[in-house]
Amino acid sequence: MEHRLTLFLLGAFVFFTSVTCQHDNVCFRPELQDNIELDGIQRYFNPGAELPLSCKQGYTPMSGPRKIVCTASGQWTKTKLKCIPKRCPYPDPLSNGEMYYEDTTYQSAINYTCHEGYVLTGASTAVCQANGTWSATVPECLPVACGLAPIPEFGMIIYDRKIRGNSTDYGVTVTYRCLPPYVLIGKARGECKADGEWTEVPKCRVVTCPPPENIDRGYKSSNDDREYDYKETVKYGCHGDYVLEGSLQVVCQQNGNWSEKPSCKGPCRVGIDKGRILYKGRKLWIKDLKPNRILHKELVSVYCKDEARNCGYAVPTQCIDGKLKIPQCFEEPSSLDYTLHSGSLPSEIEQC
Ligand SMILES: *[C@@H]1O[C@H](CO)[C@@H](O)[C@H](O)[C@H]1NC(C)=O
Ligand SMILES: *[C@@H]1O[C@H](CO)[C@@H](O)[C@H](O)[C@H]1NC(C)=O
Ligand SMILES: *[C@@H]1O[C@H](CO)[C@@H](O)[C@H](O)[C@H]1NC(C)=O
Ligand SMILES: *[C@@H]1O[C@H](CO)[C@@H](O)[C@H](O)[C@H]1NC(C)=O
Repeated sequence: MEHRLTLFLLGAFVFFTSVTCQHDNVCFRPELQDNIELDGIQRYFNPGAELPLSCKQGYTPMSGPRKIVCTASGQWTKTKLKCIPKRCPYPDPLSNGEMYYEDTTYQSAINYTCHEGYVLTGASTAVCQANGTWSATVPECLPVACGLAPIPEFGMIIYDRKIRGNSTDYGVTVTYRCLPPYVLIGKARGECKADGEWTEVPKCRVVTCPPPENIDRGYKSSNDDREYDYKETVKYGCHGDYVLEGSLQVVCQQNGNWSEKPSCKGPCRVGIDKGRILYKGRKLWIKDLKPNRILHKELVSVYCKDEARNCGYAVPTQCIDGKLKIPQCFEEPSSLDYTLHSGSLPSEIEQC
């Protein structure tokens, strides 16, 4: 009994190993490089079986045998078959636009864009297809068009070049004019923009300014109580010792306001009682400045003493609208010094 069981087990073992042996001699469905395609779905192949190879869609076979054979040892023969991606033709250049692509092989993409002022008509992207053609033809970049420029009321338009029909291309420029007495408000030049719109159209208006205001301590050339026309001018002047600062005349501007008025600036008194001054290149005693008055913006110098070096020097100061600062180094002499020792004043001793 025991003997028979042993025999049975031995028989089972022999049977099993023989099956395994047979398995060793078939070829399994091979795993091949990407892009290589195998026909069918068969998983086991007997020795001698031939397996034709092809390239996947979009790839072209290059060099190497197109089939492999299952050998007696259960191994496939080697193949050096290479499948390289198909190439689409180089795209035609795009006029008035740009193309962007990295490659022209299967599955590569091209992007198209148009220059400013051009609109893309067609596909903005094309992909290289499996059959080596682009998925879309090269698009076109057509110039943006504006309609005719709107004509301002009471005005006219002058095109810089001849216009055909009712449309103008991007970049066309025009000049606007107003019929007198209308005045152009806004920009006189216009352009068809990249978005197909015209730049802002100016307006033609009648411009008047109210009667100009007077200025303090001054007068104006016209006292007419009327509206003044665009570009009309009025002059100003100052009374007596007042000096005009700013523009001598104002002009009626586009916005109906006058240009900035000038103003009258006052004279200054030289605020010292005793001493000499330097005024308009002349050295004179203050009592001889008659009247004691210098005009706005004029310069006058007083004399100071350099104690260390025992010499005198002139220090200039300027009249600004009625105000004149006496330099701090100036010292007014006592009456005694002024009358008896005038020779020792800073203006009289040796100059530094
Ligand atoms: C094309 O455009 C797409 C989407 O904007 C972008 O992802 C891609 O990188 C572009 N390709 C090239 C080659 O410029
Ligand atoms: C290439 O493939 C595309 C998409 O499958 C198809 O529309 C086109 O007609 C094919 N072109 C040629 C020349 O075969
Ligand atoms: C221009 O436009 C007007 C009105 O829109 C139309 O009547 C006219 O025929 C157009 N002219 C041209 C040359 O297209
Ligand atoms: C004109 O002047 C007035 C007063 O100075 C000012 O308020 C106004 O803004 C000016 N108008 C323009 C269009 O500049």
